[in-house]
Amino acid sequence: TGRCVVAVDGPSGSGKSTVSRRLASALDARYLDTGAMYRAITWAVLRAGVDPKDAEAVVKVAGEVDLAIGVEPDATWVSADGVGIDQEIRGPEVTGAVSAVSAVPAVRELLVAMQRGIISAAERIVVEGRDIGSVVAPDADLKVYLTASADARAQRRSAEYATDVNTTAADLARRDRLDSTRSADPLQQASDAVVLDTTAMNIEQVVARLRDLLDGKV
Ligand code: C5P
Repeated sequence: TGRCVVAVDGPSGSGKSTVSRRLASALDARYLDTGAMYRAITWAVLRAGVDPKDAEAVVKVAGEVDLAIGVEPDATWVSADGVGIDQEIRGPEVTGAVSAVSAVPAVRELLVAMQRGIISAAERIVVEGRDIGSVVAPDADLKVYLTASADARAQRRSAEYATDVNTTAADLARRDRLDSTRSADPLQQASDAVVLDTTAMNIEQVVARLRDLLDGKV
């Protein structure tokens, strides 16, 4: 059992978080939610009263905030300047502003460096995001790109967050568009990623499939 890095990318609501956490637990590995890091910076930007579209001011906040994140799959947490913000980063304010903040190249540079540090300190780790296989960990042992129909993704997210399904669908469509069309590290399939459409699969089936893919690799 040597080093093992699994990269899980895909759009919002594709099942990345649940699948990645379950897989990490099953592998006795760490788990890194890079979306939570972009959300935490966004929370700090809003707390500072900064306009998320003001790139220069956003970069200043990002450089000053003391961001920390837990990597145990069964006990996730994130904090900014020592304040736990697990609930706050899932709220509508942060969700509405995170795509603008994550489009700023200097913010990405900062977080990608931090993510690489966390990955190299871990023996085994499952990392989820939008640019893991393409940018953060191009040498990952397994790269997966999870997708699902827009309907399935909206339904999963609205169940998870207890939000209205139509509002959720509109929010997902908006974030998908922003995340896929930004110039800095857009959401994309790494050319060597295994693409898995999870529309008709449940969590257990997806996790089992990923474990099969890993068998013989590591
Ligand atoms: O995965 P989650 O929905 O929590 O991600 C929140 C936002 O963070 C995404 O919509 C995207 O703008 C940004 N993000 C990113 N790169 C990553 C992970 C998340 O740009 N690796």
